[in-house]
Amino acid sequence: MLNITIDGRALEAREGQTVLEAAREAGIHIPTLCYLAERSAIGSCRVCVVDVEGQDAPVPACTTRVVDGMQVQTATERVLKYRRMAVDLLISNHGLDSTDYCFSCVKNGACELQAVAREVGVSHPTFPVAQTRKPVLDSNPFL
Ligand code: FES
Repeated sequence: MLNITIDGRALEAREGQTVLEAAREAGIHIPTLCYLAERSAIGSCRVCVVDVEGQDAPVPACTTRVVDGMQVQTATERVLKYRRMAVDLLISNHGLDSTDYCFSCVKNGACELQAVAREVGVSHPTFPVAQTRKPVLDSNPFL
């Protein structure tokens, strides 16, 4: 077993576990979006970032393996800022209005991205909303 600390709590983790897995086993919540348990983690959304002592920048909890003596912080000012920025970028091509209504698809109100945006304090995109609707290509019968 490896001895680690998450948010000041001393924990034991197994060799090969990720920070996210160790945190979840201890009941410590770290928000995620792209992580799917039992699939290989891709670490692309950066919503799960955490601070690890000795690291220059926050690292994704879902792809970072625990090491003995590791000290992790899940909610530093820097981590919260990184998370907000990641979510802000992700919703920049969604039609989220100031009332938290999203016009992008039928999942409004039952959307994981909306829920995470609420959790990290992003109520609307601060980046210009990209227009993602493209013309339908129907010239090929296969399509
Ligand atoms: S959940 Fe997306 S990078 Fe970790």
